[in-house]
Amino acid sequence: MINIVVGNNLAHSLAELIKFQFCPVEMKKFCDGEVKPRIKNIRQSNWGILMLDIYQDENINDYLVNFFLLAARMKQSCKKVIGVIPYLPYSRQDKEFVKGEPVSGKIIAAHIEKNLDAFITFNSHNHRLKLNDLFSIPNYNISLFPELGEYFKKFPADNTLVIAPDQEARDFAQDFCQNTGFQYIVCHKKRNIYTNKVKLQLPRDFDLNNKNIIIVDDIIASGNTLMNLVSQIKKQNIKSLSFAFVHGLLVGDTEMAFKKLKPKLIVSTNTIFNEFMKVDCAKSLALLITNKNKFKLWNK
Ligand code: R5P
Repeated sequence: MINIVVGNNLAHSLAELIKFQFCPVEMKKFCDGEVKPRIKNIRQSNWGILMLDIYQDENINDYLVNFFLLAARMKQSCKKVIGVIPYLPYSRQDKEFVKGEPVSGKIIAAHIEKNLDAFITFNSHNHRLKLNDLFSIPNYNISLFPELGEYFKKFPADNTLVIAPDQEARDFAQDFCQNTGFQYIVCHKKRNIYTNKVKLQLPRDFDLNNKNIIIVDDIIASGNTLMNLVSQIKKQNIKSLSFAFVHGLLVGDTEMAFKKLKPKLIVSTNTIFNEFMKVDCAKSLALLITNKNKFKLWNK
């Protein structure tokens, strides 16, 4: 029996890399807003991988409903279904920050895994609740920061400094620096949960003078976090400023605001399709899926 990958552009790349059959998805929408996806060429299969592209301005709730419907349909035709969501929505609400709020991350994960045998994502938020706390099925969280780091390898190691905006971004900076030899520092961040405004503090007495600065983060949504950091960095006489991030939600005018800063480089991945994407998440995914030691499901 064959193995299939269901989805759009990313699924197509993945299918070619791992030599599975590609089944494109047709997306339709009724005038009242209901979504109606269809898998073309669906057939009885052994393994089925579901991976839908995410676009920057896409309605993330529509995306999720499409995913739920398609996973359920695949379950009828595939012996095992692996779900891949490149950017895991709702993962930032991993706590009841204000009394009365649902812990959305946990609730959404329960719906996602309903028809799946395994789940894969990239750089899930992993702050208070880890991916393993959200899912009860086998789950994999791929870090794309080493790939992002590769992109900056030409920067001189002795003159480049990576900045993580908060404690949670420490692991991102570490992954980013692992093959580059860059040094990194971590800021202290406080977010007002009512206004969403952030306040960042650079480590004291750190000399940024004449350095190539690269700011790394997992998600860029409103850009508030980065802009706040930039306003402090710019007070010093830095050599250049660059940004590297995995999920470019880039809501509203964020892209324009970034470009106005005239950065040396802005590099993102294609977990969310945006104009700065240069790192292809399908490659890292194919490496995981074809590694029998890491991806144990094949042996079951
Ligand atoms: C927060 O904990 C995340 O790591 C990002 O720093 C945050 O989501 C960025 O959001 P924004 O661009 O809206 O400040």
